[in-house]
Parts: sequence; C-alpha cells; structure tokens
Amino acid sequence: MLKLSLRFVVPLLLAVAALAYLSVPLMDRLTLRWFMSDLDQRSHAIAATVVGPLREAQQQAMAARVTGLLNAAATDERLHSAALCDAQGRIVARSAMFPATVGCAAADPSTPRVLRLEQGVLHPTAVPLRLGDSPAPTHTMLVLHDMSFIELRSGETRWYAIVTFAVLALVVALITVAVAHLSWRGWVRGVRAMLTGEGLLRPFAEGPATIDKALLPLEAEVRSLFRRLERQRAADTGASEGWSAQRLRAMLQTEYADDEIIVVSNRQPYSHERRGDEVVVTQPASGLVTALEPVLRAASGTWVAHGSGSADQQVSDRDGCVQVPPEQPSYTLRRLWLTTEQVKGYYEGFANEGLWPLCHIAHVRPVFRAEDWRHFVDVSQRFADAVVKSARRADPLVLVQDYHMPLVPQMIRDRLPQATVVTFWHIPWPMSETFGICPWREQILEGLLGSHIVGLQTRAHCRNFIDAVDTFLESRIEHEDSTVHRGGQLTRVAPYPISIAWPPANEEPIEATRARIHQWLGLPPGHRMAIGIDRLDYIKGLIERFAAVEHLLRSQPQWRGRFTLVQVASPSRSDLPEYQAFHDRVLDEARRINDAYGTERAPAILLRVEHHGAQTVRDLYRSADVAMVTSLHDGMNLVAKEYVAARDDDLGVLLLSVFTGASRELHEALLVNPYSAEQTGEALARALAMPPAEQRERMRTMRAWVRSHNIYRWAGSMLIDAARVRSRERVTARIEQLQRRPLKVAV
Ligand code: F6P
Repeated sequence: MLKLSLRFVVPLLLAVAALAYLSVPLMDRLTLRWFMSDLDQRSHAIAATVVGPLREAQQQAMAARVTGLLNAAATDERLHSAALCDAQGRIVARSAMFPATVGCAAADPSTPRVLRLEQGVLHPTAVPLRLGDSPAPTHTMLVLHDMSFIELRSGETRWYAIVTFAVLALVVALITVAVAHLSWRGWVRGVRAMLTGEGLLRPFAEGPATIDKALLPLEAEVRSLFRRLERQRAADTGASEGWSAQRLRAMLQTEYADDEIIVVSNRQPYSHERRGDEVVVTQPASGLVTALEPVLRAASGTWVAHGSGSADQQVSDRDGCVQVPPEQPSYTLRRLWLTTEQVKGYYEGFANEGLWPLCHIAHVRPVFRAEDWRHFVDVSQRFADAVVKSARRADPLVLVQDYHMPLVPQMIRDRLPQATVVTFWHIPWPMSETFGICPWREQILEGLLGSHIVGLQTRAHCRNFIDAVDTFLESRIEHEDSTVHRGGQLTRVAPYPISIAWPPANEEPIEATRARIHQWLGLPPGHRMAIGIDRLDYIKGLIERFAAVEHLLRSQPQWRGRFTLVQVASPSRSDLPEYQAFHDRVLDEARRINDAYGTERAPAILLRVEHHGAQTVRDLYRSADVAMVTSLHDGMNLVAKEYVAARDDDLGVLLLSVFTGASRELHEALLVNPYSAEQTGEALARALAMPPAEQRERMRTMRAWVRSHNIYRWAGSMLIDAARVRSRERVTARIEQLQRRPLKVAV
C-alpha cells in the first residue's frame, strides 16, 4: 500500500513543485509591473502639485526655492528623492538625497526601470514639465521611488504562493491516495469475485460482500447461460461424434428439462381412417413427421394439426386430443376440426394454389383469391388459439411448421409473449420479385417475423427471405449475423437443412430384397431398374424424368426390355384442378413412352399411382440401380437422402436435380438439369454403366454425409439455438424486472 501511495504522491508533488517554480517568478514580475505603474502615477500627481511653484521659481531664477520645492516633494513616504533636468539633460536642481551617481539619463525609458544602488533599490520616473513660456515641455522632473517596500511585499507574496501550493499539493495528494486505496480494494475484490464466481452475486449467508436477494435468480440464469454456452461449445467442437436419437433426447433433458414443447403444422403425424367397420392408423408421406416425432416423444409434448382423417373425430376426446403413437403413446396429438370451406380456402386455395406455386419455380401460375385469404387468416388464428389452449406454461417452445402457418408465429406471440417461437419453412423461399406477386406479402412477412428463429433449407433461401423483408418491410437487418429487428422483436434467419433418421432400420441382405421386389413388380431377374418415389406433384419433374427415359431408350436401344423406371406417385392434393391435370398428363406420357419403347419382357415405365408404405419404399430403394430425383424445384427432397441411407451395400447411383436443396449437400450424386431430357438421359445411361468401384466411392461419401447430417442434427441444432434464445430472453426479462425496482446494495 505504501508503494502504491508513493506511486501516486511523488509524481503529484513533483508536478506541484514544477508548477510553483514556473508560476512564482511570473507572479513576481506581474506584481512588480503593477507597483511600478502605481509609482509612475504617483510621480505625475506629485509633479502636478509642484509644477506651478516650480515654474514661478524657475522664471524668477530662484535656484534655492527650486531645490526647496524638490526637497519638499521628496518628503512623501516611499519617495526617495527628486531632480529637475533641463532640455539638454543636465540636472538644474536636486533634492538632498538625490544620488550623485544618477544623472538625467535615468529619465530615458530605455534605461533600467529598477536601479540597485548603495542607497537602496530605486525606481526612476520621468515627468515632462513645461516651466517656460513655450508650449512644449522644457524640463523633466526625475522622481526616484524607494522600492524596498515592493521588494518586501513581493517576498511576502512569493512566500504565500509557495505555502498555498504546498498545502494544495498536500490536500490533493491525500485525497488521491484515499481514492486510490478505495478503488484498488474494490477492484481487487471485484476481480477476485469474478475469478471465483462469487462476490457480488454470492448469497447473503456466505459473506458480507453481497447485494439484493433479488439478484440471486439472475445469478442462476447467468450461470445456466454460461453452462449452456459451454455445452454448445463442446457440442460444436465434438460435431464429429454425430447426432443420434439418444443424443437428441439427452440434449432435450438438459436444455428443456422443465419446458413444454408444442409443434404446430397442417399435416398431422397420424391419421385415423375408416376402412369399412375398422379404423386404421396411417402416417402421411412426410419428412416432417420423421423429423419431429423424436422431439415430441422425448419431451412428451403436444402436436397441434388439422384432423383430416375420416375416423379422427371418433378416436379423439372433446378437445380433439388423442395420445400417439398408437403402439406406444408418448405425446398428445391435438386435432383441429376445419369445415370444407375452410379447407378449400386455407389449404387448397391460399396455401396450395397461391403460396406453393409462388415459392416453387415450376411455371404454374399462383392464384390468389381474397376469399381464400380470409379463410387463411381465420384458420391461422384457430391454430394459434389451439396452441395457446394446449400450453400449460406461459413460456412454451413452439415449433411452427411450413408454408401453411406463416401468420401463426406473430399470433402466438400476441397471446403468449413469453413463448419461444421457431418456424421452419420446408419449401424454397423465392426471390423478392417473385414473392412480391403475393397481394398479402407484408402480412406474410410480419407473421413470420413473430418467430425468434426462422429456419430455411439453404443459405440461398435465407438470403431471399432477408431480401424480401428488406424490400417490403421497414426493419433493421444485420447481415453479419443474419437477424431482423422489427417492432422491438428480433428474428434470426438461419439455414437448417432437413434430413432423415440415422441409422436406417436393419434390413435383410440386399440380394434377397431385390429378388422379392423383382418378382412383385413382374420384372425378370437381373433386370436393370431405376426408381422414382414422389408425391404426384408438378414440382417433382415426373414428365421431365419420363422424357429422359425416352431419350435413353431412343438413343441406346440396347436398354429396351432390359431397363425400367419404376415410378411410385403418391396421390396428393387431388381436389385441385392443377393436380388433376398433372395426374392425367403423367399417365398419358407413361402410356405413350411405353407404347413406343416398352417390350413384352418389361415396360419402359412402371407407374404406380398409389401410396406405398415406408417398408415397401425402402425395399424399392434397395432394389434399384439408380434413384431418379428430377424435381424442377424442391426445398430439400428427402427421397435423395433416403435412397443413400437405404444403400448399406454402398452401391447404386443417385441422379439428382440441381434445383433441389439436397444437391447442395450430396455432391457425389450425378447432378442434372431436368429441363434437358438429353443431359438427364445421358446421365441415366452413365449411371447404368457406372462401374461398382465408382458407385462405392460416391455412395460411401454421400452416406458419411447423411450419417453426420441426420434429422437429429437438424432438430438438435435448431433446438440448441432456441435454448440460447430462451436463456437470453430470460436473463433480459430478469434484468428488466430488476431495473424496474430500486436496488438496495449492502456493502
Ligand atoms: O414439401 C413441403 C411439404 O409440406 C412437406 O413437408 C410434406 O411432405 C409435403 O409438403 C406434404 O404436402 P401435403 O401436406 O399437402 O400433402
């Protein structure tokens, strides 16, 4: 401490001494100048009083009288002596004390203003006098002032100044040392508290350096935030460990132990259908269910969806709730009942005739009707209300799914301001020129910005989304961290490429499956086969795929009767005219190509327009030499990933459209432009002729990618990001709460 004090005091004293050294002579000179100017004025006053008698005596040549007058004038206190000089600079008379060594030259202003003589320190002042008749001065009265009193005073002033500086320096030094001591102690204590994680946030019982008890929950929040960041860092660095269902469950247990998770989507994960007297349970052909079921199972949450099955009402309770999955109930499915008009307006109309073609570049004109929009708004509100009713807590995590729900996020935030809303948009987000076609574009964007996180499939879709916000809404966008600030809400926009479960189910040896499937399809053994598995949708590029097959069989006739495309087309949205027309076109094209290139041995295209169960689809993947994914535009396309996952023999070739999100990840596929029948047909020929070694090399790399970038990673990374948002919001809320009340600090 002594060292610390000296460190402050010594430089301070030096600084004060230097200041005194510089300023005291300055003060001295200043006071001397003031005094001398006073003396000069006095001299003039004295001269003015004696000028009359002097003139008289001088004119009468009364030398003794002149000397007498000078002696009289010099009797004034502090006046030493006086002399009268003529125009030639000669002394004509002087007072008794006037020094013999001083001549009239002293009257010249260029001579020293202070004379240090043996008679003392004297200051000469010259006052011009007019003693004759001429109008100009004829004489000069030289007055010598005794300056000893000035010397005395200046010495006193100097002494006072030095004492004042010294006292000032001492006081400042003492204050500085005191402040330094206090700050140092506080600083040391603060640093120690930081390092030990105690100090200001330590509970009362543990020591005196504590503050308001109200800070304790904040401490817990901050600690949990740190722990979460630590886990996140560990998770990021340990990405190679891979995500699995178990890891996702473990993450949910640590991050969401006491939390409530609600999923909201149009399509339900299970549908109860009446088949005669029986009720059967079916699962829709949807990647969404694969992705979110593990999350809800682990969290025992609630899934809110449209109850569209014919027996759904029959098996659900008064609130539309039923426990699923049927074989091992672990979460609640809350069904929403919609009228036929609502389904027509909200689902078929606005979502599938408007937003679907708007977001996919498939050259189908979007249709926007005001009537559909009204239903869309009403149904969105009903979904949001159902989420609110399902919530057992004020702050559930709500996972909003897909393009049917863009208005729901803000509607939920309005009713449950503490909820965390994460929205995943499964389909592409178009460029803003295209998106701008939607007459309700602002409302769609505003609704989505009610989310804390908006997830999309690819970076390009994120860029398009942010661009649309930038174009159509007033907001602040941080491109660096991909966030949108609007109306006091913050939305992060990020890519979360959706995927499939891994590991895939254990299967029988692939040769056995192939033999069984060939028999089932009526294809001869050893027949080469490509597979297409899709919903019957115009974005899937079925017509283009058929054209590629036609190109192959036309350009390489040796494949006729030796190759077949097996196309499974699951009927979809079949009440819509566009889908009905597409269905007819697909059937016509398959028929035409079969007529032209089919043989008795095998058709060119084997089209099966019906829903196939998951196991059959897997068997088809394992039997096929090639999988054809030729979408004209697709958010991700999980068929591509499912095919790769099913090929545990590392064989088979994936032919993949560059217009799918999957093509951004599966670079070892044969990438094609489906709009070119020739290019796609040639790629098909290449796939059929590809040596097994090349197939293995490509397939292994793709499998490794899908293994590590599986559905658990998709869900896990989104949920970890959401957990981070939740912690941040909790800490912020706590701080705001503390700021609103006076803080009592006990030091
Ligand atoms: O691709 C978007 C998507 O919503 C998928 O998530 C889902 O598999 C598919 O469309 C199903 O569409 P629908 O519910 O209209 O049958």
